[in-house]
Amino acid sequence: DRRIKIAPSILSADFANFGQEIEAIEAQGCDWVHVDVMDGHFVPNLTFGPPLVKAIRKHVKTFMDVHLMIAPVDPYIEAFAEAGADMITAHVEAGPHIHRTLQAIRAQGVKSGVVLNPGTPAEVVEPLLDLCDMVLIMTVNPGFGGQKFIHSGVEKTRKVRAMIGDRPIHIQIDGGITPETAPLVVEAGADCLVAGSAVFKGGSVSNPDVYGANIRAI
Ligand code: DX5
Ligand code: ZN
Repeated sequence: DRRIKIAPSILSADFANFGQEIEAIEAQGCDWVHVDVMDGHFVPNLTFGPPLVKAIRKHVKTFMDVHLMIAPVDPYIEAFAEAGADMITAHVEAGPHIHRTLQAIRAQGVKSGVVLNPGTPAEVVEPLLDLCDMVLIMTVNPGFGGQKFIHSGVEKTRKVRAMIGDRPIHIQIDGGITPETAPLVVEAGADCLVAGSAVFKGGSVSNPDVYGANIRAI
């Protein structure tokens, strides 16, 4: 199914109101909920860990993808699986054993994804594709919402799409997605777009129609 999915990043939501924020974006038609976990070590920012992900899970009726920007990854896979992740994505840059990490994610009965930073070439995913349900191509350097789209991700998307062939593997793009940049990566083969600031800007739980208009504009 190559219909384009929109996965709002709750990094741009009101952190004091996750339950209502998630219910609002789902009512407004998002497809997945994207949860950004940052450790202040792999990336220069801190967000939240398994207990908060578990609390968020109770409100998600669609599909929760958990983007781990942490190093090491392996000691925390079980905790994020138990917190209710439907998919866990891990960066190739986070350690020497991404192949083992992807196996460990699947061993938890959770879908697996591999993530590439902007400085990492497409080719590294080739030996990993049989262990992946998704390839996530970063179009910003991870750590913060609201950054500018890095255009080299478009050609990288095209390369990864060609490598995937007809395997049922999603390509997700994360960072700087707007109504202007979304068509570039969709044309190159992406089928799932993360958007933080572009979904949440101008809206709130008391004015959720803005979220819907923002989602449809992407
Ligand atoms: C970046 C995160 C993204 C981020 C996207 O480190 O992985 O998910 O929240 O935010 P926008 O869409 O505002 O670039
Ligand atoms: Zn993310």
